[in-house]
Amino acid sequence: MTTGGVDSVEAASALPGAAVAVVEEDAVVLARLVGVLASVPTLQPFLHLDELLDSDIDTAEGLVLVLGPSQVYEESTLDRVSALLRTEGSFGAVLVVAEPDAATLRMALRAGLDDAVALDRTEEDLPGAVRDLRYRLQSSSSSKTTARPTTPAEHRGRVTTVFSPKGGVGKSVISVNLATALAHRSDRAVALLDLDLQFGDVAVMLRLKPAHHVGEAAAAGSRLDADLLESLLVRHERSGVYVLAAPTDTSEGAKVTSQSISEVLAVMRRTADHIIVDTAPVLDDTVLQVLSESDDIVYVVGMDVPSVKNARLGLQALELVQIPLDRILVVLNRADSRVHLATRDVERALQMKVDASLPSDALVPQSVNKGAPAVLEFDRSRFAGRMREIASLILNRASSEGEP
Ligand SMILES: Nc1ncnc2c1ncn2[C@@H]1O[C@H](COP(=O)(O)OP(=O)(O)OP(=O)(O)O)[C@@H](O)[C@H]1O
Ligand SMILES: [Mg+2]
Repeated sequence: MTTGGVDSVEAASALPGAAVAVVEEDAVVLARLVGVLASVPTLQPFLHLDELLDSDIDTAEGLVLVLGPSQVYEESTLDRVSALLRTEGSFGAVLVVAEPDAATLRMALRAGLDDAVALDRTEEDLPGAVRDLRYRLQSSSSSKTTARPTTPAEHRGRVTTVFSPKGGVGKSVISVNLATALAHRSDRAVALLDLDLQFGDVAVMLRLKPAHHVGEAAAAGSRLDADLLESLLVRHERSGVYVLAAPTDTSEGAKVTSQSISEVLAVMRRTADHIIVDTAPVLDDTVLQVLSESDDIVYVVGMDVPSVKNARLGLQALELVQIPLDRILVVLNRADSRVHLATRDVERALQMKVDASLPSDALVPQSVNKGAPAVLEFDRSRFAGRMREIASLILNRASSEGEP
C-alpha cells in the first residue's frame, strides 16, 4: 500500500470543495474504501444510493460520488447516476470495479462516469481519481464566476471566432449562417471576417465579389480607422452582413500578422455589434491571437473519430496558451450522421459539454452552391432552426456580460 495518493487527497482537501460520498453495499468493502479516503474531510459513506439521495449531504460545492464494486451490478443505480450526471453540472463519479474488463468500463463510460479504478489498485489509484474530480469541479465552478475585462468607455462589439483544428467540418458554413442569424436580430452592424487567408470561401458562399480584403486592412496599420475599414468591407444585401473578405492571392494573406490582425479587430469592434471570424484549420500565430481576443469561440467538432481526436488535442493547445475554456461553445456538426459516436461519447472524450448540435442536411451544400445562407434560403429547415439557437446562445452570453 502506498501513501502518496493519500497525501495528495489531503492537499486537495485543504481547499473547501466538493463533498465526497462513497456508496457500497458490502460493509467490508465500504470500510476499505472509506479507509483509503480517510483524509477527505467531507467524506460520507452510504450502503445504498437511496440513502445518499435521502440524506442532507451538502452539495453546494459539488459532489464526487465513489461507487463501489457492488453498484455496477445494480443497473438502476447506474441509470440514476447517469441521469444525475447529465442534469447536475457539479457532480462527478468514479467507479471502483472488481473486474476491470472492457464491457464494464464501456458500461461506466456510457453511464457518463468520469473515471474507473480497479478494486485491487484502490489504495494507489482512488485517492488521485477523487482528488482530480474535486479539483475539476472546483475549477469549473470558479471559472463560471470569472469576470471578463470590458472597456465601457467605447463601443465594444463582440468577437465570436469559429474554429476547429480539423478541415472541412463546417466552419465556413457555420460562420456565414451565424453572422446572418445575428444580423437579423441586431440593431447595429454585424461583420464577418474571413481569416482563412489561403483558401477563404466566405465570399463564394455569399456570392460576393469583394474589391478589397483583410490583407489591405492589416497593411494599413495605425492608419486603419472606421472610415477606411468601411471602404474595405462589402455588404451582403440580403442578410445585411458586412464582409471583410480573404485575399484571393495567397501571398497577400502571408502578410497578415498577429499584431496587424489585432489592430483590425480593434477597429471592427468599434463599428460592429458582432464580429464573426471564420478561420483556417491551423493554430498559427494569427489564429491564436484572434482566439485569445475572442469573447466566444465556436468550436466545431465533426462526428468522426479523427475530428474528435483533433478536437481534444486542439483544446489542450488552447489550454496551454491559457485561453479560458469557458469562452468555448462546443458545436457538433452533422450530429445525426450515421456513425457510432454519440454526443455523450464526444463529451467524454473532450471533457466538455456539447452546447449545440447541427443536423446533417442536404440543404446545406445546396445553399452553399447557390451562394445563399441556409438560414435565409431554407429558413424553416432544422439546420436553420439550430443555427438560430446558436445565435441566441451568443446573444445570451453577450447580455449576461452586459454587452450589446
Ligand atoms: N450540417 C451539414 N450538413 C450537410 N453538409 C454540411 C453540413 N455542414 C457542412 N456541410 C458541407 O461540408 C462541406 C465543408 O463545409 P465548410 O466549407 O463549411 O467546412 P470548413 O470547416 O470551413 O472547411 P475548411 O477547413 O476547408 O475551411 C461543405 O460542402 C458543406 O456544404
Ligand atoms: Mg472554411
